[in-house]
Amino acid sequence: NQQLIQDLQNTIQNIPDFPKPGIEFKDITPIFLNPKLYEEVITDLAKFSRGKVDAVCGIESRGYLFGIAIAVALDVPFILIRKKGKLPPPFVGQKYDLEYGSEEIEMRTGQLKPGQRILIHDDLLATGGTTEAAALLVQKQGGIVSQFSFLIGLKDLEGEKRLEKFNAEIHQLLMY
Ligand code: PRP
Ligand code: MG
Repeated sequence: NQQLIQDLQNTIQNIPDFPKPGIEFKDITPIFLNPKLYEEVITDLAKFSRGKVDAVCGIESRGYLFGIAIAVALDVPFILIRKKGKLPPPFVGQKYDLEYGSEEIEMRTGQLKPGQRILIHDDLLATGGTTEAAALLVQKQGGIVSQFSFLIGLKDLEGEKRLEKFNAEIHQLLMY
């Protein structure tokens, strides 16, 4: 998949100083202008998880862009993890800390069945705070955190360290 990695690197746009000075934003939206490339991404991500998970959880909002297609490719359910206040009850929530303040994510109760092996998917692994909270949410409902997958991983932020405790496989298609 060296070719795929190269195609993605040529497609994803690096935007300096967004959303804050000193941060380089990875704009993945050009991927969706190229259906062939999008399909190759899904094929790669689905291959990592095939036969290994019973459901996929995707994190709002960019985790939905690839997450649903991965679940369809694997023929398993897709469960939405949403940011606070969007889902009707009953739901379970998990707080997590941001650089400034805190955030909360939620999932409808009963969609995830106890004992299911879960892939948690998001577009980006940065500090790992969002993904860690998603994994705790999955565990709260008796799910087994089996795998994490990301389109992009940012090495310097050491997000992987925060995920070590879950003893799950991690796939990051592109590393910066
Ligand atoms: C971004 C990104 C990941 C998360 C990674 O989402 O899509 O979900 O941040 O950061 P972390 O590893 O430091 O937690 P964001 O909250 O900006 O929202 P969006 O997906 O709705 O754009
Ligand atoms: Mg996100």
